[in-house]
Amino acid sequence: MTTVQLQKTNQPPIKAPRGSYWITTFGCQMNKADSERMSGILEYMGYYPAEEELNADLVLYNTCTIRDSAEQKVYSYLGRQAIRKRSLPNLKIVVAGCLAQQEGESLLRRVPEIDLLMGPQHCNRLESLLNQVDSGQQVLATEEQFILEDITTPRRDSSICGWVNIIYGCNERCTYCVVPSVRGKEQSRTPEAIKSEVEDLAKSGYKEITLLGQNIDAYGRDFQSQNKEGSAQITLSYLLKFIHDIEGIERIRFATSHPRYFTRELIDTCSELPKVCEHFHIPFQSGSNKILKNMGRGYTIESYKNIINYIKAKIPQAAISGDAIVAFPGESQTDYEQTLSLIDQIKFDHVNTAAYSPRPNTPAASWPRQLNEDIKVKRLREINSLVENIAKERNQRYKNTSQEILIENINPKDSFQLMGRTRTNRLTFFPRSLENGVGNKLGELIKVKITDVRPFSLTAKLL
Ligand code: SAH
Ligand code: SF4
Ligand code: F3S
Repeated sequence: MTTVQLQKTNQPPIKAPRGSYWITTFGCQMNKADSERMSGILEYMGYYPAEEELNADLVLYNTCTIRDSAEQKVYSYLGRQAIRKRSLPNLKIVVAGCLAQQEGESLLRRVPEIDLLMGPQHCNRLESLLNQVDSGQQVLATEEQFILEDITTPRRDSSICGWVNIIYGCNERCTYCVVPSVRGKEQSRTPEAIKSEVEDLAKSGYKEITLLGQNIDAYGRDFQSQNKEGSAQITLSYLLKFIHDIEGIERIRFATSHPRYFTRELIDTCSELPKVCEHFHIPFQSGSNKILKNMGRGYTIESYKNIINYIKAKIPQAAISGDAIVAFPGESQTDYEQTLSLIDQIKFDHVNTAAYSPRPNTPAASWPRQLNEDIKVKRLREINSLVENIAKERNQRYKNTSQEILIENINPKDSFQLMGRTRTNRLTFFPRSLENGVGNKLGELIKVKITDVRPFSLTAKLL
């Protein structure tokens, strides 16, 4: 399978103008990457970006259902569009993504104004699904689907950093999580298809790519279970080496890694490949072995620490981040304190935290010993403050050092500043005007000196 290019981003649409479109994306990077692909398809079909949501001829919500709060947000957005549609019958309402997959027909019953309800595995089929809508049908596309290679070019938000899906779906069964049921079975893209997408990005001037997958370090294992010839060697390490030398690409990142599949070989590979950035996002979820077992995570705190220690030994400057859930059913004060203690021992650069949210059709949602809202709020507040303090402490190591930054954008809050990230993924702001006349161009790699540190960002001056 290879990606055939029919149209380059920003070129005029091939087909006659059809109307304006608006996409709002909820959830994770996977959804953001899907939205970029669906934007590309819409523009290929002749849609053009609307100036605002409430003027668009086609509105697409790419939804998330990881926690209840994510779900509720979508319903309020949808309500507004349903009211609009009563006076504008030609308005098209599309609901894509994980909530669409989870709710299926019941969402159509709840909001009958929806024209197209499609799960994440159907993104690349948007054109044919919308053609069915145009022929007067209300369309539901949520059946399990082999994800086809897209033939259009995504319309990417950034012209410097690009996302590249390498594995779709998730084969784990964490007892709290909806992802496997909404994103389906793991499906790796072939190394050739991935390389061809990265080469196209490099030709269009992109400097950084982030490879994406729910459990990215499980890349390739579905090839092995299909017994494809030569598949045993196709792993994330193999892929990193396979795409590493593409000219023009300066930085390679990948997310999200699952501790169960994170091998020493992968760490060795990262330490050997100069373009692979020193940042590892490896969710741990809890610091208690009892809770990890109940979550069905398949590793222990000891094995997690072994991975981190090996990273720190091999790549001392590496930044480490993770995800954690507090107030999982049955989490005692001691279990919870073990999570705090793990964060303190590892000294994470960042941790995405959440209070446990019971999700439909997941085992943990029906367990006894659910914790009440007060405990959830208290634990979340405490853990967030610990994460912030440790991040600030960790950032002290940057002070007065020289760092390489890829200039990604103008600071939206201060047009006199540029922004970019260190190789370790720390957001860094620095002045736009230059005395020595170098730099100042988006997409350029420059050296800066860090002058000030905050918990989650840095300030620098140009060297
Ligand atoms: N595949 C990744 C995570 C994807 S989901 C992994 O296994 O690490 C992103 C994060 O959402 C998870 O890491 C977890 O911390 C959080 N999450 C998932 N389900 C949740 C739930 N029911 N309640 C609260 N947080 C949840
Ligand atoms: Fe969810 Fe677990 Fe899969 Fe991550 S590995 S997406 S937490 S089921
Ligand atoms: Fe949400 Fe789906 Fe991502 S549930 S977090 S958008 S995989």
